[in-house]
Amino acid sequence: HDSKTDETVEARINRLCATVPDYPKPGITFRDLTPVFADGATLRAVVDALIEPFEGQFDAVAGVEARGFLLAAAAAYASGTGVITVRKAGKLPRAVYTESYDLEYGKAALELHQDDIPAGCRVLILDDVLATGGTLAAASRLFARAEVNVAGYGVVLELGELHGRAALAGHRVRSLVRL
Ligand code: PRP
Repeated sequence: HDSKTDETVEARINRLCATVPDYPKPGITFRDLTPVFADGATLRAVVDALIEPFEGQFDAVAGVEARGFLLAAAAAYASGTGVITVRKAGKLPRAVYTESYDLEYGKAALELHQDDIPAGCRVLILDDVLATGGTLAAASRLFARAEVNVAGYGVVLELGELHGRAALAGHRVRSLVRL
């Protein structure tokens, strides 16, 4: 709750999230969270709500390229931890772990620098949207290879009918709005 406006973080997200029909292709309904990030009070409420259940349980915050970076940097700053970048393949310059995942058509891969986070640390993984869960599951496999413990996952929006949560079984998932 925001004490001044009495509007919950969920209500703020629902008010600001833009729904774009037929983007990026016919039949797909795109949920655009850029207005959520652009609103200062909402950005703060979102970041606070994402880290709150995991307080004291993580040593770093990871963001998944691209929109996850926005949340992870803010959450790391707010919690006095560091930010870890999980990037699309080919973007990180040093030795990486690579994990591929399925897209609607074809495959993609995510990468993590092998030495950005020490073994034994606990990482909170953030992204904007949980859809099929393929992206966050791949990120989780990267941290497993680095012998880093996943403290949990946080997303602004969960598309419940795609059952992404099932792909992330075993760790707590905090989603602020479920559609
Ligand atoms: C979107 C979103 C998540 C992912 C969720 O990213 O930001 O990362 O899809 O989908 P999933 O749960 O089915 O894996 P996208 O691949 O569009 O990349 P972008 O953020 O770089 O645009």
